Amino acid sequence: MWEHRLIERLLKLCEGQIIKIRQENNIDPVFIDTAVDFIRIYADRTHHGKEEDILFRDLGKKKLSAEHARIMNELVEEHKYARTVVGKLVEAKEKILKGNKAVVKDIIACLKELSDFYPKHIEKEDKHFFFPLLEYFSREEQDAMLNEFWEFDRNMIHEKYTKLVYTLEQTMNK
Ligand SMILES: [Fe+2]
Ligand SMILES: [Fe+2]
Repeated sequence: MWEHRLIERLLKLCEGQIIKIRQENNIDPVFIDTAVDFIRIYADRTHHGKEEDILFRDLGKKKLSAEHARIMNELVEEHKYARTVVGKLVEAKEKILKGNKAVVKDIIACLKELSDFYPKHIEKEDKHFFFPLLEYFSREEQDAMLNEFWEFDRNMIHEKYTKLVYTLEQTMNK
């Protein structure tokens, strides 16, 4: 849940950017790249990753109530939706960098979609999902999951920069 708080702070900055882009009819590509990196690596890979690869995986082994099973499926679909929007955001940014200013409105639309979507997703998890779920797990199971979360986080920085070097090698050694 405290990771949600950092995601909310980034979303606030996105809302600020929407106003700025509207005023200037142009984007700050560095902000877009930074926001995309945050959403992809922190919000998606690190945060949704722990939810899907550890929490939802273990929940999948439990006999969930119909309501909890439904919410879990919705959350997985919502994560996919967020990935699609970020993909569209990157596409629009690339077009702008190639001189197509007509897609500035697409950037605004993507930033708006993200800042509308995430608070609802976060509220669903914080208020209707995470706490009742604890009931499905024993104290030992909760501790084991927490340890796995730490391990998952610990590996993230290595994953990010290994991928970064690999991508640079692919593009620069051509
Ligand atoms: Fe989530
Ligand atoms: Fe979450």
